[in-house]
Amino acid sequence: MTWKTLDDMDFAGKRALVRVDINVPVENGVVTDTSRIERIAATVDDIQAKGGKVILMAHFGRPQGQVVPEMSLEIIAPTVSDVLGLPVTFVNGDYADAVAEMEEGDVLLLENLRFNPGEEKNDEGFAKRLASLADIYVNDAFSAAHRAHASTEAIARLLPACAGRLMAEELGALEKALGSPERPVVAVVGGAKVSTKLDLLGNLVGKVDHLVIGGGMANTFLAAQGINVGKSLCEHDLADTAREILSKAESAGCEIILPRDIVIAREFKANAANETIPATECPDDAMIFDAGPETVAYINGVVDGAKTLIMNGPLGVFELEPFHAGTFAILNEIAAQTKAGKLVSVGGGGDTVAAINASGHGDDFTYISTAGGAFLEWMEGKELPGVAALG
Ligand code: 3PG
Ligand code: MG
Repeated sequence: MTWKTLDDMDFAGKRALVRVDINVPVENGVVTDTSRIERIAATVDDIQAKGGKVILMAHFGRPQGQVVPEMSLEIIAPTVSDVLGLPVTFVNGDYADAVAEMEEGDVLLLENLRFNPGEEKNDEGFAKRLASLADIYVNDAFSAAHRAHASTEAIARLLPACAGRLMAEELGALEKALGSPERPVVAVVGGAKVSTKLDLLGNLVGKVDHLVIGGGMANTFLAAQGINVGKSLCEHDLADTAREILSKAESAGCEIILPRDIVIAREFKANAANETIPATECPDDAMIFDAGPETVAYINGVVDGAKTLIMNGPLGVFELEPFHAGTFAILNEIAAQTKAGKLVSVGGGGDTVAAINASGHGDDFTYISTAGGAFLEWMEGKELPGVAALG
């Protein structure tokens, strides 16, 4: 598929409505990882250099069509300004007025698109309202391209549309690294919930040779095999689905790797008293926070034998010490193998990128995608609505 890029458009004196993904982690009002913001800079700079005015639009969290003050993009706006090194004006309410008053060099940031129920419904009316603000639509949000929303899909049919620099870079880099991956391929998929990644897991087992399941998702798989997971995060109602995925993997010849030993604690806080025990021995009152050293050693052996690795999701609660240990230990191995030229490694997703950066391996992967879900759906071979709409 082909799509236009910034080079194909004439931005001089024009207003560009740029869909970006600045859905970044925030703790106590502070942005804890600015990667996604850093990576939209090329597009903003380029449009401005070509004489265009930039109106940024984005989502933040999942407010489900309601105004949720803690999910206002006003919280992120100062960081966007700092990272871009440009004044960024946050606008809420009457966009048309703010847009009419824009001067050359101004950057506007519109309020969280998902405060409007039309956004996630891919509503034509909402898309028209957005489109009326600008002359050109630029999609630079590869990491939201798996969503058919008003700002990623419907709007692309209403204005001259093109891909931003980051969108083009992501698609090019993924194709280069993973277009025809060298085997064995290992996928590390973690995160809190199986429910958000069901289709994905089912599809991945047909594409990869080893699938490491970490985080809360692993608990669901352990529980589905009759293993007690105590008070751990776990979707007990998905036991049947988890078992289906396990049997699908078996017939596809994909090895599913689950924790063999676990690090447990009884309080969700940094440095909580903890112990490492076999995965089959979780007490009723404990929670699983990380994979143990035996699991890590096994995964690292698989990483050593692999040619291609994709990673989306940590093994444990890496943001709380010492439960980062399992995730960091496999990141060290992935980084070493990549640096030695033995492994093509691609990581993506908010938490994953935060973990990679925190481990000091931000420059050691073959490629780091800003995308989590979108990158995995791309890997599954699915058409991404936000990309398809640009064609
Ligand atoms: C993400 O962080 O995964 C993207 O910004 C997409 O967000 P979503 O999963 O809430 O659609
Ligand atoms: Mg997501």
